[in-house]
Amino acid sequence: MKPSLDITFAGVPLKNPLVLASGTCGFGREFSELFDVGRLGGICSKGLTLNPKPGNEGIRIWETAAGVMNSVGLENPGVPAFIETELPFMHTLGPRTKGPALIVNLGGHTIDDYLAGVELLNDADFDILELNISCPNVKAGGMAFGVKTETARDVVRRVRRICKHPLMVKLSPNAEDISALARACEEEGADAVSLTNTFLAMAIDIQKRRPVFENTYAGLSGPAIKPIALRMVHQCARALKIPVMGAGGITSWQDAVEYLMAGAAAVQIGTANFIKPEIALDILAGLESWMESQGIGDIAEIRGIV
Ligand SMILES: Cc1cc2nc3c(=O)[nH]c(=O)nc-3n(C[C@H](O)[C@H](O)[C@H](O)COP(=O)(O)O)c2cc1C
Repeated sequence: MKPSLDITFAGVPLKNPLVLASGTCGFGREFSELFDVGRLGGICSKGLTLNPKPGNEGIRIWETAAGVMNSVGLENPGVPAFIETELPFMHTLGPRTKGPALIVNLGGHTIDDYLAGVELLNDADFDILELNISCPNVKAGGMAFGVKTETARDVVRRVRRICKHPLMVKLSPNAEDISALARACEEEGADAVSLTNTFLAMAIDIQKRRPVFENTYAGLSGPAIKPIALRMVHQCARALKIPVMGAGGITSWQDAVEYLMAGAAAVQIGTANFIKPEIALDILAGLESWMESQGIGDIAEIRGIV
């Protein structure tokens, strides 16, 4: 018998636990020309903000020994244009209930930005709102919402009060105490958490004697972060009752299995998409044949066994 990979995540059925990570697949448009995105468990939209953003000046992506640094600066069309043009496209990626779960990633630079974005998205048809709290809070000196537990708690509490969709909070690995912050999200009514976002990092152009990035620091992702992100997923999964979607450096089915064994109910694939856009399908095939070879009938059997 074929092993069963379907799960229910925060009340939402996913045909398998593999999801394309925000910011690494746009809205699925380009990828859909290369492979059937509808075979995956879900897709996270590019991070949206209430108003359109042109993104950052200068270098935006920089390759490192084992991953990339990015400083894209949340370039996006804004929530209204997303609802008008990109979300209808995402609906074409598969039949509404049998296709990939549609996950909308929302950022903000003030609490009011987040709330206005959520209000607009409330009437739109998608499965999960992924709240990106790694954005800088401009009214509080630019420190990201997701660093201090109490700041994260405040934004989650206020969003939860008005959000009509299942709410998944995307955690920053730069949090002062990742499991305490995750617990605060759960206490405030989050339905799930995803982690991790990128790690704050730096590169220097030695010829120019200045940082590579205009904003000096940028976000590191890819294989370099995997062991640290995996540890954080393990810590959060043990601390929470709500499900965890793991992310960070997954490039193979073995990586995905590690995250599932650490307690993730599902995983996101990000930077690896830049190496091979259909890599998530390779990971799916690898997972299936590994389960068959191990006699694992249901993917839930390995969740959190470590
Ligand atoms: C170029 C790029 C853009 C990203 N944009 C977003 C974004 O808009 N919103 C978000 O929550 N995460 C964003 N991320 C973070 C990824 O979704 C993911 O959490 C992170 O890269 C770790 O996974 P990975 O190592 O598999 O890439 C971005 C990552 C990259 C590399």
